[in-house]
Amino acid sequence: MTELEIERDVALAPLTSLELGGPAKYFVRVRDEATLIEALRWSADRETPFAILAGGSNLIVPDEGYQGLVVQMSIDSLDFHEGGTVTAGAGVAWEKVVDGAVARSWAGLECLAGIPGSAGATPIQNVGAYGAEVADSITRVRVIRRDTLELEELAPEDCGFGYRDSSFKREPGRFVVSAVDFALRPNGPGTVRYAELARKIGPDATLAEIRRAVLELRRNKSMLIEPDDPNRRSAGSFFLNPLVSTADADRLVEQALADELVSHSDEVPRYPAEGPGVKLAAGWLIEKAGVTKGSRRGAIGVSSKHALALVHHGGGTTAELLAFADEIQARVLDRFGVTLEREPRLLA
Ligand code: EPU
Repeated sequence: MTELEIERDVALAPLTSLELGGPAKYFVRVRDEATLIEALRWSADRETPFAILAGGSNLIVPDEGYQGLVVQMSIDSLDFHEGGTVTAGAGVAWEKVVDGAVARSWAGLECLAGIPGSAGATPIQNVGAYGAEVADSITRVRVIRRDTLELEELAPEDCGFGYRDSSFKREPGRFVVSAVDFALRPNGPGTVRYAELARKIGPDATLAEIRRAVLELRRNKSMLIEPDDPNRRSAGSFFLNPLVSTADADRLVEQALADELVSHSDEVPRYPAEGPGVKLAAGWLIEKAGVTKGSRRGAIGVSSKHALALVHHGGGTTAELLAFADEIQARVLDRFGVTLEREPRLLA
């Protein structure tokens, strides 16, 4: 039996990219599946809630902390198999997966360069950027079932992937991810679908060139965590891009024209959604609702590079962060009748 080393009152703020929030009552670091199962058993036996913490880059910790067991996911095996399959332990830094694939000229993940966080978190919200999402390459997710504490392997069709969504996110208590398999394309061409990326590179760009261009785009939006970036303490996009009906999107464009927010309908960013309806750009709505880049409420601000990221400038609280988020949601609702949904997970 694996010996669990449970710690008490461990500060969580330093383990998150927002650097906010209180301590975990109980805390344990797990480096393999057996220890993970023991940790889950420990919390089940005591009827103590538990939560997984990995990269901490998409997580909001309440000021009062967490009254249960926080399991720090550190399963960090990473295998590149012949033929283009990658098996990544849930705790592996995502950029190691992307960089390893690009270095081998395996196509499929190059547009997802520079995304902070861990490999195991990627299926939860179907991480995506610049025209790619992990659901395009995931072939298997290895999980531990919470009810039986047994290992199971899920096929992609069992994961219910959608835009920043999956069945893991919709049913948070059901499974804990321990490893993910990605099938990539050795020597395959890269994916250049996103207009902003296509403008930067030629149609024959190599995977390494695509990766570099994506990193540069992200850097210019402060969406890379770099120590000297004043916008570095954030959780990336704070809201999802809202999905609305085509009729509502048309109405919004009419209103934007009438209010002289734009001079041409093309200036309102809108994207085709996977299903019916239209995806709008939350960052655009926020700015046009009068919340400018760089605006501040005490220690919390909107990133000076991208209106969709909220930034902690140091010495703030989660309550202040959530209050500013509420204010932004209220302003967008009031201005455009659109409800923004929060993207990062609130640890509660
Ligand atoms: N825009 C503004 N003002 C802003 C920011 C953006 O008007 O301050 C406009 C842009 O001009 C553009 C549109 O909004 O017309 C879209 O902006 P951008 O290309 O920066 O992408 P996004 O829709 O804001 C999404 C993802 C990002 C991902 C990028 C690139 C979501 C919630 N966010 O952002 O993902 O990197 O596309 O693919 O889907 C994340 O999820 O944490 C994340 C950073």
